[in-house]
Amino acid sequence: MGTIFRNYQKGEVIFRQGDLGDCAYLVESGSVQISIDKAGADFPLTVLGQGEIFGEMAIIDAKPRSATATALETTRLCIISQDSLIERMQNADSVVRLLLMMFTRRTREMHSNLTAKRVEAKPQNVLNLDKSDKEALAQVRFESEVKLAFAQKEFRLNYQPIVTLNDGQVIGFEALIRWHSPTLGIVRPNLFMGVIEDSAAIVPVGRWILEQAIGDLCEFQKIYGKETFISINVSPRQFADPDFIQHLEETRKRFGVVAGQIKLEITEQMFLRGASVIGMIGECRALGYKVSLDDFGTGYSSISYLKEIMMDVLKIDQSFVRHIVTDPRARAITGAMISLAAALDLECVAEGIESQEVADELRKLGCKFGQGYFFGVPKALDQYTSHKAAA
Ligand code: C2E
Ligand code: CMP
Ligand code: CA
Ligand code: CA
Repeated sequence: MGTIFRNYQKGEVIFRQGDLGDCAYLVESGSVQISIDKAGADFPLTVLGQGEIFGEMAIIDAKPRSATATALETTRLCIISQDSLIERMQNADSVVRLLLMMFTRRTREMHSNLTAKRVEAKPQNVLNLDKSDKEALAQVRFESEVKLAFAQKEFRLNYQPIVTLNDGQVIGFEALIRWHSPTLGIVRPNLFMGVIEDSAAIVPVGRWILEQAIGDLCEFQKIYGKETFISINVSPRQFADPDFIQHLEETRKRFGVVAGQIKLEITEQMFLRGASVIGMIGECRALGYKVSLDDFGTGYSSISYLKEIMMDVLKIDQSFVRHIVTDPRARAITGAMISLAAALDLECVAEGIESQEVADELRKLGCKFGQGYFFGVPKALDQYTSHKAAA
């Protein structure tokens, strides 16, 4: 895969009627004429300008291109992959899908019924897009960018230490993804993981995360000892992949890591996917992997899940932890969560510890493990290894 953008010169044909279609296009700048071929003559249908999409019909109905597209001036197009459109079609409401198919069929019929009368196409470069149209276009473009970023290996994992609150000893690391974008700089996951999690790309991206994190665990164990563990965030769709466990097992064995040193962090979002998730959690635990319930306290019904599902670790969300010194209510709730974890025989990790005072308070409340900027920010593996070499 090269780029998501392509430039065309004036008069250059983008594709011809009858060609097989493998992508659609978004006009970034310039203009594109759409024309059909009638008995060897060229009939212009329309001229498309910035912000318009074309080439979608061949993707919607998997038939050849219904018309020829030609650049009318120097034109820059953003390529929208067939995969992402087909996936959206499959995920769409079935009525919307039907309407699209019918609309496409009628457009094709209209082309074949066109008489020899020449249609004068009027350029309409200025398109009046409303806010939601613009947002949808921006989303389509961003999705292409994020997928290309993965293909171009712009994703990296950073690692944040998890420590024993008693003595600050590092016992493990949480893997946190970053996008090193040449144009945007280092991008945090909240800005791009949603796009990936909503698409099938989460499976290859999720596999890459697992392989990278487990491979790097071997390096951490060389520095911090064999007991060191890695916590890996797993998103619902990734967990629903039927090959998830097999791939996890293969990766773990390839790197010679013990399953008990791998913690799978899931959120309560996972349970919305139904009963199969509970089976998956059981299978992972039966193989020796640990399962952490992340962001505890932020959802709607975490406690009821704790009743039903056996897990190993409970991570208290930073929205409570952050305020325990200043807000007695946050302190009371955090204390109750720590007691709940203890009563259920779950390890308890407090997230988002930014100061000594918060760490001390958590220890007093009986919390054994913690994570936060106070103990260490997420960093690349080589920053840990070079630190070790310098020590
Ligand atoms: P999370 O799993 O709850 O991860 C903890 C987040 O809190 C991380 O943000 C971390 O950098 C941040 N953090 C850690 N200590 C502190 C602190 O003391 N103060 C504050 N204010 N923040 C702290 P990050 O790395 O931006 O990740 C955000 C979320 O993106 C994660 O939340 C997780 O849900 C998701 N994510 C990150 N990496 C991955 C990944 O590899 N796979 C998947 N599926 N999701 C990921
Ligand atoms: P596709 O059939 O893949 O390739 C030709 C494209 O031209 C088609 O998708 C539409 O995007 C566009 N197109 C086809 N018919 C019309 C039309 N009547 N008016 C505007 N655009 C069209
Ligand atoms: Ca997490
Ligand atoms: Ca969390």
